[in-house]
Amino acid sequence: MQVIRRRPWHLPERLATPEALFLDRRRFVAGAAALALSPATMPVTAFAQRIADLPDPSASLYPFKRNEKYPLDRPITNESINLAYNNFFEFGSSKSIAGAAQALKLRPWTVTLDGMVEKPQTFGIDELLARMPLEERLYRHRCVEAWSMAIPWSGFALAELVKLARPLSSAKYLRMETFHDKAVASGQRQTWYPWPYVEGLTMAEATNELALLVTGAYGKPVSKQMGAPLRLAVPWKYGFKSIKSIVRFTFTDKQPKGFWELLLAAEYGFWANVNPDVPHPRWSQATEEDIGTGERRPTLKFNGYGEYVAGLYAGMEQERLWT
Ligand code: MTE
Repeated sequence: MQVIRRRPWHLPERLATPEALFLDRRRFVAGAAALALSPATMPVTAFAQRIADLPDPSASLYPFKRNEKYPLDRPITNESINLAYNNFFEFGSSKSIAGAAQALKLRPWTVTLDGMVEKPQTFGIDELLARMPLEERLYRHRCVEAWSMAIPWSGFALAELVKLARPLSSAKYLRMETFHDKAVASGQRQTWYPWPYVEGLTMAEATNELALLVTGAYGKPVSKQMGAPLRLAVPWKYGFKSIKSIVRFTFTDKQPKGFWELLLAAEYGFWANVNPDVPHPRWSQATEEDIGTGERRPTLKFNGYGEYVAGLYAGMEQERLWT
C-alpha cells in the first residue's frame, strides 16, 4: 500500500491540482541549477537531444518566419526546462512526464471540425499545415500555479482555422478536445479525471488575433510533452486553457466545461483571465516565478496582453472573469 505523506498542501490524488505540481516544478528548477555543474547533467541533456532528434514529417517546414508584433519583456525560457518538465495529465500527474509522453503517436493525426458548421470536415495535420499561414511568435505563458515562462511558438492563428471551419452564425463557443486513448496515455486510465481534456473559448476569443494554434516551438515541431502535434496558446489566460494534442474543434451554442472546471469548479472557471488582483482561493496571483531565470516578477493583468483582449470583456464585470 502506498504511504502518503501529509503536507499542508496535501489533497487527495483524485483532486490533485496544479498547485501541488507547482511545488514540484520549483524543486526541479532549483535542482536543475545544481545539476548544471555536475556530470549528472549528461543524461538530462542527452534525453532532451534524443527527443529533439525524433523524425517528424513536418520538420523541414521549420523555422517559420517570426511575426515581430509581439515582443517579450523577458528572456526566452531555456528549451531544456520546457522539454523536461511539463503539465500533461494524460501522461501522469507529476511534472516528469516527458518519457511517458513519447508513447504518443503523431501520424496519422486527424483534426475534426464539427458541430454548428456548414459541413463537418476532417483534416490530417500535414494537410492543415499546408493550408495555414505559418508564423513564429514570442509569447509569455502564465500558469495558474504562479510560475511563468516565455516561448517561441510556431503555428497559425486560430482565427484561420475558424475560417476554414465555416461556423454558423448561431455558434457562440468553440469547444476543443484532446485525444483520448487509454492504451497510449496511462493517465487516462485514472477514471476519477473527466477525460478527455476539454477547453473552450467564446467565438470572439477564438478569433482574437492573439489566439494561436501551436505546431512548433524553438524553431522545430513542438515536442510530444508540450502538446504535439497541435496545441493552443492563449497567453492572456492561465495556462490550463492552452489545451494540448487537440483532435476536435466543435462549434456550439453551449458554454463548454473544461477539464479543471469539471474537476474543481470552486477553483477553476471558464474565463480564467490572468489578474494579479484576484487571488486563487488558496494562493496569491500577485507575482510569478520566471522558471527560466528564477526571478519573481509582478504579474500583469491579462498577462500584459490587455491592449489586444481587454475589449472582449467590456461590460462583463458580473462574470467570473479571473478564475
Ligand atoms: N492540455 C492537456 N491535454 N492536458 C493537460 O494536463 N495542462 C495544462 C495545459 N494544457 C494540460 C493541457 C496546463 S495546467 C498548463 S500550465 C500547460 O498545458 C502546460 O504546458 P507546458 O507543459 O508546455 O508547460
